[in-house]
Amino acid sequence: MSSKLIAPSILAADFANLQCDIEMVNTSDADWFHIDIMDGVFVPNISFGMPVLQAITKHAKKTIDVHLMIVDPDRYIKTFAELGSDVLTVHYEACTHLHRTLQAIKNEGMKAGVALNPHTNINVLEDTINDIDLVCIMSVNPGFGGQSFIENTYNKVSQLKELITRKRASTMIEIDGGVTNKNAKALVDAGADVLVAGSYVFKSSDQIKTVKDLKGLANS
Ligand code: DX5
Ligand code: ZN
Repeated sequence: MSSKLIAPSILAADFANLQCDIEMVNTSDADWFHIDIMDGVFVPNISFGMPVLQAITKHAKKTIDVHLMIVDPDRYIKTFAELGSDVLTVHYEACTHLHRTLQAIKNEGMKAGVALNPHTNINVLEDTINDIDLVCIMSVNPGFGGQSFIENTYNKVSQLKELITRKRASTMIEIDGGVTNKNAKALVDAGADVLVAGSYVFKSSDQIKTVKDLKGLANS
């Protein structure tokens, strides 16, 4: 069984001490940096944009997993590739021509991800799953860190796992929102490959230990 991955979400980091928090992730057992880009239109919040991402990638030594919560993401695919994104995830709900968007992401040399809001059914990916490297199941409504985990997520993970197996796809399953030590193992047991954790990691008193414990649970 391949190892399950932990992706701390930088949205919950201390922006006045960003380099320090990036070094924490570099040193920790974490696998990816999860970077949330919000435009204030697709979601009711604005996070940060290109200059901050550039500052992050300058110091980050692990995979850069960018989660775009923006309308019309096609406009920025090339820019995010140039900024060093390894995985670029767009929202299903923000893409009119999802298949075209996925090809455009791959043509820029990145892995292509699709995020689904809590209200969006897995079956919308029936015809694109073989073109998707990663599906990000939102386990909170996107826009803010620190929200409570939506329990229906377990059903969605199982449904997605079934779809991936049935279509013989090699898509990874990522869970984003409200991930803690309470749900990590159950999510992995349901089929998750990547766990994003923001508040749970950065608001803890010993972040290195929190990441180590989460990784241990996910791989237990
Ligand atoms: C929410 C973001 C998440 C968020 C997760 O819109 O996509 O990545 O940072 O934060 P927590 O782990 O605090 O729910
Ligand atoms: Zn995210």
